[in-house]
Amino acid sequence: MKLALRDLTAEERAAYFQGVHPIWGGGLDEERFVTFQRRLADSTEARDRYRLLGLFEGGGFLSAMKAYELDGRFEGQPLRLIGIGAVYTPPHLRRRGSAAAMLSLAMNEYAQRGCGAAVLFSDIETAYYERLGFRALDSRECLIELSALPRPDGGHRAVGPGEEGEVSALLARGRDGTGQLTLSRDGWTLRLQLRRLRELARARGVGEPEWGIRVEGRGGDAVAIVRLGRDTLDLLDAAWTSDSARGKLLGALRDCMARSGRSRLRLWPSHQLRHLFASQARTSAVAMVAPLRDGIAVPERDAKAELALLDHI
Ligand SMILES: CC(C)(COP(=O)(O)OP(=O)(O)OC[C@H]1O[C@@H](n2cnc3c(N)ncnc32)[C@H](O)[C@@H]1OP(=O)(O)O)[C@@H](O)C(=O)NCCC(=O)NCCS
Repeated sequence: MKLALRDLTAEERAAYFQGVHPIWGGGLDEERFVTFQRRLADSTEARDRYRLLGLFEGGGFLSAMKAYELDGRFEGQPLRLIGIGAVYTPPHLRRRGSAAAMLSLAMNEYAQRGCGAAVLFSDIETAYYERLGFRALDSRECLIELSALPRPDGGHRAVGPGEEGEVSALLARGRDGTGQLTLSRDGWTLRLQLRRLRELARARGVGEPEWGIRVEGRGGDAVAIVRLGRDTLDLLDAAWTSDSARGKLLGALRDCMARSGRSRLRLWPSHQLRHLFASQARTSAVAMVAPLRDGIAVPERDAKAELALLDHI
């Protein structure tokens, strides 16, 4: 029977979220996790560029995934990408080629929409995705003890509502000049990220999340996008205009850790503060990229990339 790729209906989405809950549930109980995912998928921020796709044969569901339409750059050129997340086949349907067929249909569809490449973060052996044309990129993280960070010296504050535009602009400036593969934190990705953090905080029953830290002053500007991990403060992205602003930002991160009871800072990815702290290879969430058409330049295997996490809870 013919295979078809299409958006999941509300019912199918619920079944998919239940299926992935034991893997990516992030400590939430199933009901809260499903509600969190549903609210995110239904949000205005998700419209058009964040989709839940499924592979069907006849009317039967075989596999599902998340698809993000993203902007990036490589070697100074803009690159439109599909970001792939949470690929899932129910256990009784596995090993029949469904996930592979779904990925290749999705990659074809996004190639026709003008995307040049696909990115994902693999939690399984990368050989699986290599067979589908992906290359594993250098993927590292840093874990930094609170005591290794400078003491806060003031001059920082939480990013407030309505500042997304300025934050995006600072992050974009911080990216200039690198020829490496980067995903842009344009207005949309930042807004979706914020929606994700807000919905997650709601699901966890903790109020408005602290998501951004800003340093401003004559010595320069800096910004960090953070989220509270289970026992770390995770730095999702950062930019600065001077070393002194970066130093103040590190102090601000220490302050945020102290206030939230986190003893370690996780730089994920680690490029933002490169050379300041020792990094180690990541064994999970390995960044991978695949060209979608002939003649599209993407990084070679093991190349450095500056890819921020898309999807994980
Ligand atoms: C990974 C997954 C989506 C594959 O779905 P599927 O429909 O069975 O995929 P395919 O039939 O296209 O491919 C099956 C291959 O996936 C491989 N695979 C499954 N899990 C794997 C793992 N943890 N590491 C490496 N390869 C894996 C199998 O080895 C199998 O190949 P084989 O038959 O030669 O052994 C499915 O196993 C799943 O839902 N797992 C749980 C969620 C998950 O980990 N998703 C991946 C996130 S990056």
